[in-house]
Amino acid sequence: MCGIVGFIGKAPEKVLLEGLKRLEYRGYDSAGIALKFSDRMDLFKAKGEIKNLEKIVPNETTARIGIGHTRWATHGKPDETNAHPHVSSDKKWAVVHNGIIENYIELKTKLNDFGYDFYSETDTETIAKLIEYFYKDDCNVISVLNKTISSLKGSYALGIINKEQDGIYFAKNKSPLYVAKCGNEVMLASDIICFKGFAEEYYPISDGVFGYATENGIEFYDNLSKIDVAPIPLNLGDYSNLNTYKHFMLKEIFETKTAIKNIIEYYSEKNNINKFDGRDISKINRVKFIGCGTAYHACLLGADMLRKKAGLDAEAYVASEFRYQDVCVDDKTMVVLVSQSGETADTLAAFELAKENGAFTVAIVNVEYSTLAKNADIYFPIKAGVEIAVASTKAFSAQLSVLNIFAGLVGERLGKNSDPLYDVRKLFECFDYGNINDFKLLADVLRYNDSLFMIGRGDDYYIAQEASLKIKETSYINSNTYYAGELKHGFLALIDDATYVIVFATDKNVFTKTVCNAEEAKARGAKIILFTCFDLSEADAENFYYIIKVKELGNSLQSVLNIVPWQIIAYYTSINKGINPDKPRNLAKSVTVE
Ligand code: AGP
Ligand code: GLU
Repeated sequence: MCGIVGFIGKAPEKVLLEGLKRLEYRGYDSAGIALKFSDRMDLFKAKGEIKNLEKIVPNETTARIGIGHTRWATHGKPDETNAHPHVSSDKKWAVVHNGIIENYIELKTKLNDFGYDFYSETDTETIAKLIEYFYKDDCNVISVLNKTISSLKGSYALGIINKEQDGIYFAKNKSPLYVAKCGNEVMLASDIICFKGFAEEYYPISDGVFGYATENGIEFYDNLSKIDVAPIPLNLGDYSNLNTYKHFMLKEIFETKTAIKNIIEYYSEKNNINKFDGRDISKINRVKFIGCGTAYHACLLGADMLRKKAGLDAEAYVASEFRYQDVCVDDKTMVVLVSQSGETADTLAAFELAKENGAFTVAIVNVEYSTLAKNADIYFPIKAGVEIAVASTKAFSAQLSVLNIFAGLVGERLGKNSDPLYDVRKLFECFDYGNINDFKLLADVLRYNDSLFMIGRGDDYYIAQEASLKIKETSYINSNTYYAGELKHGFLALIDDATYVIVFATDKNVFTKTVCNAEEAKARGAKIILFTCFDLSEADAENFYYIIKVKELGNSLQSVLNIVPWQIIAYYTSINKGINPDKPRNLAKSVTVE
């Protein structure tokens, strides 16, 4: 994943550190910067978050150029040696990289044969050595860069400096990269949020394009030909800050209602809701929803909504599986890509595959300037606002709301009579964050568990999966999810009197069946926590160790009312365990590598 930033101008040390903080959602296992002075280049690297790097970078320097990196390790453990920037053997070149060089072992072996030694375990170090190798016989850096990137297989966004040159070289393939200019200052970054407060417009860099930026301007090349790139106005909402909250995760959960309001406002505009205008979808006979992690869980629910509202054959796929399966996609298939970031590598690859097979593509994405949002045939923004915490919360609820509108629109298009905004409006009227004290009490209980079980049927099962993911990633508890009806087919063997089983039962059609399954676990000693939207008699309630009750909505957006409590429970469980829920170990917000 990783975030890269480069800067030419005054006080690069400050600008780079600020940029890296904004990119920290992309990885935070180590960080580093290289600063170029008139006569030398200095490197600073630290393990862990940017705050550790900040402690070792001087407050003020005379440097005018620098590159920086915040890492999510793919090759080599997260330590200072493997932290970027990586340098050539003569220490003249420094490189920061986001991506994976798939043929790095082959390149490393060749470079070893040519006498180059390697100090790190990273794939990135081969790029620094490769540039040095080509530069020995060719002092035209543009031609050297062209040779270098032609040798690389895989994904990369690169920032490169040379200790004797006054500029930053860059190159991009599959990993995001942007560049912006203000007067004679230039910034390069993995995400345009770095440009806020610096420039009013920015230049997107396409795959395969590389170039060179100096105080005098930016040059872009495709192969060896110079190309023109048109700037795009920088149009960002407010960069999120914590206000009075201690963590982004809690702040973002409590922004859910605003997100739903924004969705209703946006999709109430005729121009915004009529996404299918001028598009003939009558020949579509199947729909595939694709995403990863939380977005995949939204896909499971989205497919269900579409089956119900449009009567179409719809299935959900994990993007990393879809890529390598026999996917049965053709020009009668609609492929719906769901993502918060719009930059997830597996989802992007699934999108490419869908395009190649002639599918009609729809992006349901939060980040409006992202690759997916820009390239799909139709784009439905989810209007959740900036999401910083690694655990996705408000974006999930916003995805479900927009998927519901989408399903209604497709249904309408196929002759079903419905108001696509009806369910979301009802959700907004009914929405609340539930009884936080009940959630905190449960979080106090859960903190002592190493493992948990969650069961449900239909949409309840999908929400159990998402709740389980939230608990796992923020609290490091091994939470397992099963279809309620599957207990007796194996999982009951795991039950004893120390086991907590959480039963999701908010669908009245299967409520009794699900509760009966819970009884099977209770008979083997399990403590049953019931999660429901229905009232229970006193006698029935006594059967349960603990009950959490949410409002009953009566449509498929019940799932939003069902997940918010679990996001809050996951948050407080994490706090109880002394974990920073915004930056769980080993994870990153945006997974831009395969
Ligand atoms: C969510 O809590 C996770 N951190 C993760 O599963 C995430 O949803 C997944 O990586 C997909 O990201 P995207 O929505 O940006 O594509
Ligand atoms: N492959 C590089 C490394 O492990 C960059 C990682 C990334 O972008 O995720 O250092």
